[in-house]
Amino acid sequence: MSTKPNSFQTPIGTSDLLPLGSARWQATLQLFDEVSTRSGFGYLSTPIFEDIGVFSRVGEGTDVVRKEMYEFLDKSDRRLALRPEGTAAVCRAFVQHHPVTPWKVYYHGPFFRYEAPQAGRYRQFHQLGIETLGSDDPDADVEVMALAWEMFQKMGLKQVELSLNSMGDGDTRLQYAEALTEYLNQHRDAIDEEDREKISDHPMRVLDSKRRATRKVTDEAPKISDFLSASAIAHFDRVQDGLTALDIPYKVEPRLVRGLDYYTHTTFEFQSKALSAAQNTICGGGRYNGLVEELGGPVTPGIGFGMGIERLLLACDAEEVFPAPKSSLDVWVIDVAGGSHARDITYELRSHGINADRSFDSRSMRSQMRSANRSGAPIALIIGEDEVAAGNVALRSMLDNGVEQILIPRDQIAVEVLRSLGSRS
Ligand code: HAM
Repeated sequence: MSTKPNSFQTPIGTSDLLPLGSARWQATLQLFDEVSTRSGFGYLSTPIFEDIGVFSRVGEGTDVVRKEMYEFLDKSDRRLALRPEGTAAVCRAFVQHHPVTPWKVYYHGPFFRYEAPQAGRYRQFHQLGIETLGSDDPDADVEVMALAWEMFQKMGLKQVELSLNSMGDGDTRLQYAEALTEYLNQHRDAIDEEDREKISDHPMRVLDSKRRATRKVTDEAPKISDFLSASAIAHFDRVQDGLTALDIPYKVEPRLVRGLDYYTHTTFEFQSKALSAAQNTICGGGRYNGLVEELGGPVTPGIGFGMGIERLLLACDAEEVFPAPKSSLDVWVIDVAGGSHARDITYELRSHGINADRSFDSRSMRSQMRSANRSGAPIALIIGEDEVAAGNVALRSMLDNGVEQILIPRDQIAVEVLRSLGSRS
């Protein structure tokens, strides 16, 4: 599409959220608020930008920090970054405010990564997230995963699968990375060229590769499970017991390594089988027992997840569940007797908690009727000269092709509308 030189479009990898799609978006946020609040999480809002140091902590070797971060100097030469993820910001807030633990918070909002945009991958995307700080209890891990699972169930998603792994503690990760690097170097020539360069910087990311040659090598690679300490195994066992007790199906996936460096012990991803493999991870998370300390706080374990709202709704589209809510309007007021009645009646209805709207600009009856139809409101109130003279208003049901109509007294409008709405619900 050609655009005029002085007209603008959304930047690459971003999009506008318009009514009516936004109603579905808001329904998702509302559901997340309900589910999180019911489990004792409180809403946390942190700034969209932070000192860059907050995020460089999430792993200097990761793509998110090295290549994808939107960073800039402000007018006083402070080095800032648009937040690429939520966990480090939550830990920064924890260190700043030292709340009572366990600190259970949830958040939602935009995040920014300079990635190559494609379906399900954007430069500004949105996450729902929760974090529990200050507990090492494996039941806290289960609570976090169960909350994501509850969201999927409530939205009607059936094709979501949970993959689970344990990265052990910090030492395990180091030992394992060493053993894996050695193994990968031994088989260097058999590994796909594209993956070879990751071996020295990020050996664990090679496990992620879907390329056939690499896959053949990684199939036989050492497994992190063989490196876990007795206490890490006990933690992982208790997590699995909890998932089984709550009837949440999962599979242990020893290859599951996540893109961020801070994970210890439990890591997990929820994938939608209804989406294509490249972008089918709708939620990812895990434990990060060293991150608060890295950000200058006391030793504080943490566990949480981030769920991509766009991907979540793509999965809903693919499964044809969680449709946009019906119109939130109750009444459309049609006035062909000058407009003052529409003005007075809409305000009267709204003051009774009824969602009401009207046309402006003295449109014709036909045009106002078209707006009423388009609005999705189940009721139209119609006022013409005859109704004004008789002190009446016509109440028309819009649900049965708009043919059923009764006259109601002008001074009984709110009562009659509420009665009519009540008889529909
Ligand atoms: P993450 O795996 O980087 O983890 O992102 C979590 C989710 O955000 C992904 O599974 C995906 O659904 C969505 N997502 C990520 N990048 C994009 C993108 N470019 N476009 C669309 N959706 C995207 C984190 O961010 C961690 N903070 C999660 C966490 C919380 N771990 C512990 N607590």
